[in-house]
Amino acid sequence: MRQATVYIDSDALQYNLNRVKQLAPHSQIVSMVKANAYGHGVKDCLAALDATDAFGVACLEEALEIRQLGYSQPITLIEGIFSEDEMQQVIEHKLECLIHQSQQVEWLIQHKQAYNALGLKVWVKLNSGMNRLGFKVTEIIDVIQRLKSEGFRCVLTMHFANADADHPLNEQQKQQFLHVKEACAPILASCCNSAAIYKYPELHFDFVRPGIMLYGASPFADKNVYELDLKPVMTFSAEIIALNQIQQGEFVGYGSSFTASCPSNIAIVSIGYGDGYPRAYLKPNFVAIDEQLVPVIGRVSMDMIAIDVTQVKAELGTKVELWGKHRLVDDVAAANGTIGYELLCRLSNRPIRKVI
Ligand SMILES: Cc1ncc(COP(=O)(O)O)c(C=O)c1O
Repeated sequence: MRQATVYIDSDALQYNLNRVKQLAPHSQIVSMVKANAYGHGVKDCLAALDATDAFGVACLEEALEIRQLGYSQPITLIEGIFSEDEMQQVIEHKLECLIHQSQQVEWLIQHKQAYNALGLKVWVKLNSGMNRLGFKVTEIIDVIQRLKSEGFRCVLTMHFANADADHPLNEQQKQQFLHVKEACAPILASCCNSAAIYKYPELHFDFVRPGIMLYGASPFADKNVYELDLKPVMTFSAEIIALNQIQQGEFVGYGSSFTASCPSNIAIVSIGYGDGYPRAYLKPNFVAIDEQLVPVIGRVSMDMIAIDVTQVKAELGTKVELWGKHRLVDDVAAANGTIGYELLCRLSNRPIRKVI
C-alpha cells in the first residue's frame, strides 16, 4: 500500500489551544475550523478542541457538519448567510450570523424573534481599510444602532489586513475600530486573528479568533512556530520506494531539470502534487529524514519526488517527512512561493489520515 500519510497530533492541537488561553486569558476563544480545519480534518480536530468556547466557519455547510458531529458550542458564520433561505437552518441549528452588507441586515430583521429568542449574537463587520467585507466607518454606527433597537446582541468585529507585519494601515484599522466601539458602547468586540493575538494584547477584547496558530504554523514570515511556542499539528510523510545511483552529468525527472554534479544516490519518494505537495520549487526545498534535511531535486511529479540521499542513510521503506516537526510547512511554503496556510488547505484526499 502506498504510504503517503497525514498524521494529526491531537496533543499538539490542545497545546496550541492552551497557548491561546495563556496569551488571551480574559477572552473567549472562537477556534477557526473553516476549510476542513485548515486541511487537518474537522472531525479529528473538533475532538481535540473541545475546550474551545466557540467555532468559526465560512459557510452554512461547514457549520452543519459540526452540528452533525454533535458539537453544541456557538458557531459563527464569518461571511454570514448567502441568501435569505439559509435563515431557516441558522435558527434550527443555532448558528450566529455575521452581517457585512445591508441585505443581510434585512434578512436578519425578518427573523429577529426566533433569532433573539435563542440568545444568538450578531457579528457586525467593520471595513476599516482591508476593503474585503464590512460596513464603512461612516455607515456602521447606524447599522449597529438599528440592530440594537431591534433587540439584537451585537459583536463589533473586523479583520486586520497586515496583522503579520508593520504597515501604516494597522493604526488606521485600530483607531477606526476603537472609535466605533466607543460610539456604540456597550458592545462586545473581536478583532484578533493569530498574528494580532501575539501583536496586540490590548485588543483581545471579548473574543479572539485564532486559526493558523492552533494548527502549529506561523502567521509571521520572520518567526517560526517554535519561536512562538507552538507545536506543528500535522506531519505529512511518505516512504522511499526506489533508489538510483547516478553518475556526474546524468539527469533526474521530467524536463531533466536536475543534472548531477558528482556521483549521487537518489531516492524516489511516493508523494507528488496529486497529494498536495507543491511543485513550484522557486528556492531550494528539503524534506527531513531522521531530523536531517535532505534536498528535493528535479521536478515534482504527480505521484513522486526525487531526493538526494548521498549524505544520509536511506533504504527502501525509509520514512520521509515532507513537513511536520523537523521540516516546517512554512519553510516548504517559502521555497514554493506561498504560505503554510495554502499548503495545509490544499492537501488532496489521497493521503491516508491518522490521528496520533
Ligand atoms: C475573519 C477571520 N478571523 C480569523 C481568521 C483566522 O486567521 P489566522 O488563521 O491568521 O489566525 C480568519 C482567517 O482567515 C478570518 O477570516
